[in-house]
Amino acid sequence: MKLLGLETSCDETAAAVVRDGREVLSNIVASQIDIHKEYGGVVPEVAARSHIEVVLPVIHEALEKASCTWDDIDGIAVTAGPGLLGSLLIGTLTARTIALTRHKPLYAVNHVVAHTFANALIPEMAGFEPNIFPLLSLSASGKHSELLLFDSPLNYRLLGRTRDDAAGEAFDKVARMLGLEYPGGPKISKLAPLGNEQAFQLPKANLGGSYDFSFSGLKTATLRALQTAIGGDFRTLSTELPHRLTDQQKADMAASFQRTVCETLTGQLLRAHQEYQPKSVVIAGGVSANQRLRQEVSRQLPVAMHYAPIEYCTDNGAMIAALGYHLALAQASINPLELKADPSLSF
Ligand code: KG4
Ligand code: ZN
Repeated sequence: MKLLGLETSCDETAAAVVRDGREVLSNIVASQIDIHKEYGGVVPEVAARSHIEVVLPVIHEALEKASCTWDDIDGIAVTAGPGLLGSLLIGTLTARTIALTRHKPLYAVNHVVAHTFANALIPEMAGFEPNIFPLLSLSASGKHSELLLFDSPLNYRLLGRTRDDAAGEAFDKVARMLGLEYPGGPKISKLAPLGNEQAFQLPKANLGGSYDFSFSGLKTATLRALQTAIGGDFRTLSTELPHRLTDQQKADMAASFQRTVCETLTGQLLRAHQEYQPKSVVIAGGVSANQRLRQEVSRQLPVAMHYAPIEYCTDNGAMIAALGYHLALAQASINPLELKADPSLSF
């Protein structure tokens, strides 16, 4: 079965053709990073307009790279939410229209859950066949940080989530304090190896034994530590920091901050592993591209870990098609006239 996966929930217009939820025949991502980075973050109206311009060319390129025509496509999986409303509308309206005019079944996908399915594209995970379950997933991106326990591909529960900022959001905000461009995660991870990761001792939130996360305290503690490092106080504007910090101070903070986030995420994952004893463990979402996180997880978790290629960690259409495949197996298609974009779609 070949599915087209379509993703437009934020600042990437992405389409992919995936066979049987595991074999990527094409994966096209048009990133808007260059458009948004001058604003230091995603501007929703600009994102929606950019999706309109590129969504059809991106879909056509995905079909062409996969050597497919519409006749070869068995269905369309599209992100229904959560995400930016304007961005989601472009993807869902496009998918609905194609489903109606080409007579294809349509599958509505939850973006956050789909991140975990990037791992179904790893050969060792064989499209999430039954023998890999129960599966524990740490999913951390620019808007979400969740621990999910899957009993089967479509049967999962939320063990914990962020109570405030997402892990990727914390990376992006700390990157700004260090004068690094959006998105900050990749920039911090590039700078961190030049610094001492013990230089700053930053706090880890204690959430009383729950599996939730909290990163806003860490963000404030990072700001205070940087203000102190340049001899300022809490009134020093964060916009002054990049000019007044030395290159070594910036690298030391990149390394210390990254260590703290990676240890926090891994600590929760390890606790959940100890309690639930899953058969497999995966990490997902943009932050799972972080090499320091992968090292920490491999070091602490007593299971063989396999990691998805970086292009499947950040937003892409292949993970949408991979989850769509399991919806197709369960015959869970949706009437194109009833599919709604839902910015706050929950689990
Ligand atoms: O999954 P994603 O592409 O989009 C969302 O659904 O949010 O994740 C983007 C987030 C950004 O916050 C970005 O800074 C972060 O993932 N990210 C990273 C790395 N690559 C991307 N964070 C840490 N280390 C990385 N290497
Ligand atoms: Zn995402």
